[in-house]
Amino acid sequence: MAKDIIEHDIQKTFFRNASELDIQNLLEIEEDSFTNSRLKKRQFLYLVKHGKCDFIICEYDKKVAGYAISQFRKNSTEARIYSIAIHSQYRKKGFGIALLKEICSCAVQRGCKSIRLEMDISNEAGKNFYKKMGFNENGKIFNYYGNNKDAVRFKKIL
Ligand SMILES: CC(C)(COP(=O)(O)OP(=O)(O)OC[C@H]1O[C@@H](n2cnc3c(N)ncnc32)[C@H](O)[C@@H]1OP(=O)(O)O)[C@@H](O)C(=O)NCCC(=O)NCCS
Repeated sequence: MAKDIIEHDIQKTFFRNASELDIQNLLEIEEDSFTNSRLKKRQFLYLVKHGKCDFIICEYDKKVAGYAISQFRKNSTEARIYSIAIHSQYRKKGFGIALLKEICSCAVQRGCKSIRLEMDISNEAGKNFYKKMGFNENGKIFNYYGNNKDAVRFKKIL
């Protein structure tokens, strides 16, 4: 667990599975965190109800501080981080790293040996974030988001 959370607020922080009751908070985090490719209400609902995924909420002081979603497939030992975001009000306090550790731990419990993701290549905070957690750059995907916006791939052996 990251240092800020340990030193001050561990008793106020916990992780749990997302439910339909979180959708409004999730939409607010999405609006706050991404300018395009935001997840919509129907996508969150589908993921909560039917998604083959771990969908984890990070709560701080009974408020939703962030979420992470990682997908898995039956015949694969590689999980994929679909999205992760911390509301700007709670950033730079270690919640992101704590949530990422949680989602990696879920993947390990499912028997996954590695975890991967794609993200906007221009997202410097995001790239630092994954590198800090031992993810390695693993290629680029040109025009992944359209309008000549490229993605970078990251991967970590669990
Ligand atoms: C990326 C994100 C999840 C990080 O969450 P966070 O709670 O602020 O992260 P942490 O406090 O745990 O920071 C961990 C590390 O990430 C990196 N990092 C986080 N924010 C950063 C920033 N604004 N600039 C540069 N590096 C940053 C740093 O290496 C940091 O370690 P440090 O504090 O020792 O420097 C958060 O900024 C966010 O939600 N961004 C919008 C959505 C997004 O980009 N998601 C990831 C791609 S899908």
